[in-house]
Amino acid sequence: MAFTQLTAIDWKAKKPALHTMDGISDKTMTEHYKLYVGYVNKYNEMMEKIEALTTDDHKAANPTYSLVRGLKVDLTRAVGGVKNHELYFSHLAGAGGSPSGDLLNQMTKDFGSVDRWLSDFKATGMAARGWAWLAWDHDWKRLYNCLGDEQNTFPFWNATPVLAMDVFEHAFFIDHGASKANYIEVFFKNLDWNDVQAKFIAIKK
Ligand SMILES: [Fe+2]
Repeated sequence: MAFTQLTAIDWKAKKPALHTMDGISDKTMTEHYKLYVGYVNKYNEMMEKIEALTTDDHKAANPTYSLVRGLKVDLTRAVGGVKNHELYFSHLAGAGGSPSGDLLNQMTKDFGSVDRWLSDFKATGMAARGWAWLAWDHDWKRLYNCLGDEQNTFPFWNATPVLAMDVFEHAFFIDHGASKANYIEVFFKNLDWNDVQAKFIAIKK
């Protein structure tokens, strides 16, 4: 048994436009990558420890406290921290605009209109302590705006996020102080809707 070590993506090299955005500074992005790399490193560290657990460790598993419990619970924060940020960085540094095509049609079907979708998504971000996601539910064949207070809360089972908005204070405090609402407006001005649409089409198949 051997897990595959994760390697942090060098986002600055992969996508230089992330460092010339209007309203989200180079400083914010540079600091944000450090947090992302931290999740990658902790994933690798914890997976190594999970694989090294002994039979005695397994026998000692306990829901109040045990080595197994600590690793299994906290692994979900590392996994979320990696996946959430890779999605977020992948569709930042775009030209803004509006959703179109199949994604627009599905939003209209599930939310009534794109304006209603946007109002609900922004409110989800304002109400969240960590993340707002637009996710496709593979079982019920519809879109949901999901709220997360942490990297590992509160996912819908068998739903895939296609749009992630980081609303932790580290995403905006340097540039916007406590004004999360300003940051959310800036987020949409820098969103690459083509990337979101492509992800939606790919996962809906
Ligand atoms: Fe973040």
